[in-house]
Amino acid sequence: MTRLSSCKVAFLATGNVHKFNEARRILSEHGIATAMLRTIRTVEIQDDEIRNIAKARAVDAFQKCNLPIIVEDAGLFIEKLAGFPGPYSSYAYRTIGNEGVLKLMKNIVDRKACFRSVIAFLSSKTNKPKCFKGKIEGRITEEKRGSHGFGFDPIFKPLHASKTFAQMIIEEKNQLSHRALSFRKFAEFYINKF
Ligand code: IMP
Repeated sequence: MTRLSSCKVAFLATGNVHKFNEARRILSEHGIATAMLRTIRTVEIQDDEIRNIAKARAVDAFQKCNLPIIVEDAGLFIEKLAGFPGPYSSYAYRTIGNEGVLKLMKNIVDRKACFRSVIAFLSSKTNKPKCFKGKIEGRITEEKRGSHGFGFDPIFKPLHASKTFAQMIIEEKNQLSHRALSFRKFAEFYINKF
């Protein structure tokens, strides 16, 4: 267990400040402070499962910093595109972006999609990475909406929501997001069982 005075600390290896801010707020609800380790560059393997990518990155990050470490991998899975971009979300965002995804979805009526998040946690007390998952169902909008958040937020609208993620402030996104679900599961474990 790592403590700063009476507060537990989680070390998150990420260079994504949006992801960090979302995670930080969730973990603080559970009395956990989050440290952003942005200089730990982890090797990202190619795999069809984001869980395997997260696990491999956690092992790599732990070897580099020797701290109880969490990494999170997320992706957007579009049903009619056979799950694309899924584990290739980062590459797809950098190359075709939201406009490219909207083009691929042109004339497609069934726009069901989901975001998945997997956290992998590794420390000297756990001999292999422990994973926590979150998923949110929704649909791909016809056009970009909103300016908050990052990545595919402007084109993803959760089921039953009237706004895209990019039209929500962090507190609203954190009520329902894939990341909020996986981080809440991690927080329960970190507080009670670690
Ligand atoms: P990462 O590997 O977890 O950084 O996620 C891969 C890509 O998925 C990112 O570059 C984003 O484009 C996208 N992504 C992941 N999570 C989110 C999210 O919460 N909102 C929007 N896009 C996301």
